[in-house]
Amino acid sequence: MTISNPLRDPADRRLPRIAGPSGLVIFGVTGDLSRKKLMPAIYDLANRGLLPPGFSLVGFARREWEDEDFAREVHDAVKEHARTPFREEVWQQLAKGMRFVQGDFGDDEAFDTLRKTIEELDQAQGTGGNFAFYLSVPPKFFPTVVQQLKKHGLTDPPKGSWRRAVIEKPFGHDLESAQELNRIVHEVFPRDEVFRIDHYLGKETVQNILALRFANQMFEPIWNRSYVDHVQITMAEDIGIGGRAGYYDGIGSARDVIQNHLLQLMALTAIEEPASFHPKALVAEKLKVLSAVKLPGDLGKHTVRGQYAGGWQGGEEVPGYLDEDGIDPSSKTDTYAAIKLEINNRRWAGVPFYLRTGKRLGRRVTEIAVVFQRAPYLPFDSYATEELGQNALVIRVQPDEGVTVRFGSKVPGTALEVRDVTMDFAYGESFTESSPEAYERLILDVLLGDANLFPRHQEVEQSWRILDPIEKYWDSHGKPAQYPAGTWGPDEADEMLARDGRSWRRP
Ligand code: BG6
Repeated sequence: MTISNPLRDPADRRLPRIAGPSGLVIFGVTGDLSRKKLMPAIYDLANRGLLPPGFSLVGFARREWEDEDFAREVHDAVKEHARTPFREEVWQQLAKGMRFVQGDFGDDEAFDTLRKTIEELDQAQGTGGNFAFYLSVPPKFFPTVVQQLKKHGLTDPPKGSWRRAVIEKPFGHDLESAQELNRIVHEVFPRDEVFRIDHYLGKETVQNILALRFANQMFEPIWNRSYVDHVQITMAEDIGIGGRAGYYDGIGSARDVIQNHLLQLMALTAIEEPASFHPKALVAEKLKVLSAVKLPGDLGKHTVRGQYAGGWQGGEEVPGYLDEDGIDPSSKTDTYAAIKLEINNRRWAGVPFYLRTGKRLGRRVTEIAVVFQRAPYLPFDSYATEELGQNALVIRVQPDEGVTVRFGSKVPGTALEVRDVTMDFAYGESFTESSPEAYERLILDVLLGDANLFPRHQEVEQSWRILDPIEKYWDSHGKPAQYPAGTWGPDEADEMLARDGRSWRRP
């Protein structure tokens, strides 16, 4: 297996990481994710010269398509969503390796055709028997698809080649279902050949958490309970659920993004320095953090869930969650969630980590704010520091990617007054290199067999261990609090922090 180190020696980094002979089969290829993210990412990788010349893409779905219809669909998705310019010669090359297999997941004939298609591509395109199967389908179909792959000999690679499974979230809906899914997947694919997607780990700014913490000397000495007051991790979206009612209702915001993205951000913020950036070493550190997470005793006081009501956003009137198409009008699904967690270890004991997420909030922003304690003593007249807040280091995950440090500075003038100022690092200003889109990076890593940016099943299970009691509590305690679209969530979330003498940032 090729292992890459995201923080490796710069000389080595100059070598482009190019996938060897390979192909990708996408199940659920007619879905939104495939059209908006996967197909464009594959084209962008090809356009950057990071795919092998014979790279092949096979779509599998029920739709009555021929190869040409599939290729046209990919073409349109690429034109609409790719990040790199369209180049006819790159497209033509890529299109040569495109095939479509029509069928149901339970359809034996279709899986036989898939096997023949792969064999044909090995001959025609030189894919060398190396194929990844991307399951961009609801989890209830995972067992059928992986068992069909096994039954039809698709999981037994020819000697010297590989077969991998790529699995989209949600990985289960609680600990028990996640364990069951793991069991089913691992019956068929060896552990090292299973890649669970958490696309936040593919984001440049998320990988930068490790660089910021472990490539510098000045942050780590204060990155602990002696200096940090609390940490706020926010993932706010201004969009509603769009056309995703079928997926979202009954799942809700906490299962959708806290169980995976936010807990991963928390783990990376809190881990000890790994011995290396080998996947096993990194996972071991993340697991230590996740298994040390303690839930607050009173979940009623330290968690809040909300549901958006109608309101105005960007000058437009938008419907409330219960009025969205396809939503049960009595649904109790959360579109907002805020929770307080603590990490029971020497570095973090007593430091709250507040995690919040929501749809239809004030604006789209994801950030990690490490908020420091106040200076133990302020040798100024009291009026001088009235407008002085707490120092903070904010990792701006998106948009406007970068890092901000907030600290106090003298206000110009004859009096000695101190006010908050910020010092900013912005990716766009400091680097000329462009960041690959998260899915580009992750698909390339799958083809390279590099597991560093993929959560392991123990992490997934630990995350459900954390979330399950909260979901259970919410299930048996009334309804989510309403908040008008375009605001920063329910009042209860502000009250939750106010009880701790703190307040949410308004990013
Ligand atoms: C997905 C969630 O994992 O992340 C979506 O299922 C959410 O509900 C999306 O909208 C947000 O991703 P990003 O990269 O736009 O922050």
